[in-house]
Amino acid sequence: MIPKNFIHDLLNRLDIVDVIERYVPLKKAGANYVACCPFHNEKSPSFTVSQNKQFYHCFGCGAHGTAIGFVMEHGGLGFVDAVEELARGAGVTVPREAPMPEQAQQHKVTPDLYEVMQSATRYYRDQLKLSSPAIDYLKRRGLSGEVALRFGIGYAPQGWQNLGIAFANYQDSSLLETGLVIENEDGKRYDRFRDRIMFPIVNARGQVIGFGGRVLDSGDPKYLNSPETALFGKGRELYGLFQALKPIRTKRQVLVVEGYMDVVALAQHGIEYAVATLGTATTPYHMQKLLRLTDKVMFCFDGDAAGQRAAWRAMENALPQLIDGKNIGFLFLPSRHDPDSFVREHGTAAFEKLLQEALPLSSYVLRELSTQVDLRTQEGRTALLQLAKPLLTAISAPTTALLLRKEVAALAGITQAELEALYAIKPIGASPRRALQKAARPVVSNLRVLLRCLLFQPDLARELPENWMPVGAEAAAIIALAEWSRMQEGAVSSAAMIQNFQGTLHESLLAAEQAEIMQWGETFNVVAEFHDVLTRLRNEQRNQQLQVLHAKMHGAGMKGLDEQERSLYLQLLQRSELK
Ligand code: UTP
Ligand code: MN
Repeated sequence: MIPKNFIHDLLNRLDIVDVIERYVPLKKAGANYVACCPFHNEKSPSFTVSQNKQFYHCFGCGAHGTAIGFVMEHGGLGFVDAVEELARGAGVTVPREAPMPEQAQQHKVTPDLYEVMQSATRYYRDQLKLSSPAIDYLKRRGLSGEVALRFGIGYAPQGWQNLGIAFANYQDSSLLETGLVIENEDGKRYDRFRDRIMFPIVNARGQVIGFGGRVLDSGDPKYLNSPETALFGKGRELYGLFQALKPIRTKRQVLVVEGYMDVVALAQHGIEYAVATLGTATTPYHMQKLLRLTDKVMFCFDGDAAGQRAAWRAMENALPQLIDGKNIGFLFLPSRHDPDSFVREHGTAAFEKLLQEALPLSSYVLRELSTQVDLRTQEGRTALLQLAKPLLTAISAPTTALLLRKEVAALAGITQAELEALYAIKPIGASPRRALQKAARPVVSNLRVLLRCLLFQPDLARELPENWMPVGAEAAAIIALAEWSRMQEGAVSSAAMIQNFQGTLHESLLAAEQAEIMQWGETFNVVAEFHDVLTRLRNEQRNQQLQVLHAKMHGAGMKGLDEQERSLYLQLLQRSELK
């Protein structure tokens, strides 16, 4: 056992920039340092190191952590070995202490969730070899053993508690935290995935973080997916990305499809640069990730109405992320096909030919807009201008925005200047830089902002009101951070905080916010932000409570409330909206 305090001291003593420079040359970029990411292939640097905050984050593949995490990841070392190596470099020896008694350990639940997922993957893969119905199913869908292996495809057998065989302790909390088992109200556990073909979902570092499980024949739901866990969030991940990283680089493009089987079938036919969203629309987060990997992003949706809707959503989410020089295209399949069925019926060459004929994003937008209205009438042209407004105002890439504005204006029979005046948007032409900087930022929840403040300056956690208990994943993380920092002696650093929550339930949420605070300069007034956001949260809470009470009072006035509620109501009324 290495004492926790030693870890904090070690992190304080080290400079993460020096540590990483031993392995990867870093370049200064603003407040941070950047490099091409050592954990995935890329041409332009998205691996970012914050010297102020002593952590790193790759905006391409999501790799993140402290100096300790880096040495573990880069050298393939365990925690203890990484600490020892860093201590050696810093000229200090690692003290040891006897393991804590069972009770005191309660706080430090760090089962390696990744290892749990790895064991499950191995188990499902072994089970596939034993199940001829499952093997037959995959064969019928045209998959070779080689491709099944490349994607780690497995089979979860029939039965309720098979994972009891794969794991020594079926009651371990890690099985619940990874979503592999479900617990009913009586506290009885059973396997989430039963009698399903298992598709492991892998992060950009090759670690399994979730599963999609398909029924063999018909059944509902067709695909069952892992729930949101510390490791897995479906709005962030793309199925097949790990396997596709190299092909994306060599082919200089990525193909985004809808289904697990589409990715696998395309790979079977030599198209290895495909990834799939996981039953969600393409999110802005996905778009960012893809645009960092390559300059050419092709979407291929199923030929049905759902596919058309998915294409529209993807386009909407792509607009704010557009960068001039990037190439985004849309490919539409004949109506009864998805990529899997198309490539199986018509072959690789036919599919690649379709890909070459894909519609560029701007043509797609114009085509869709003009088919929705009748451009021959004045009403139609007015409708066009209305439909196009949210799209055009979302684009911040200057050249793309300029060209689309010109085209929409032309279709509507007005000038670009008239269109800009009508939409009340800044004219483009004179100063495109301005337009670029004014990119719309998504609205961030108050709890997220609070998390960011705590990560930026962990001491602030001690100032949180102790009795304040909002609910949800963000709130749970905030409460955990606050508890932890109250337990520490002396000042606590961001790196120590991040290191402590590595591998816990809160890791992925914290990683996302870590990436955000990299943009905050050291002079950022975090204390003011912290107090502002607390006030906003208090107002939010007050308004919610008022709403509940108002609903109860409906019709009956104060008579609708009991004693306690009445006094709460009066209190809330007196507390006016704070600034
Ligand atoms: P599809 O039904 O198009 O999937 O759903 P597919 O990959 O083509 O399936 P088959 O095996 O060829 O019939 C597209 C994606 O939507 C999600 C999955 O991620 C799936 O790959 N989905 C679909 C679910 O999550 N649950 C469902 O019940 C169905
Ligand atoms: Mn399909």
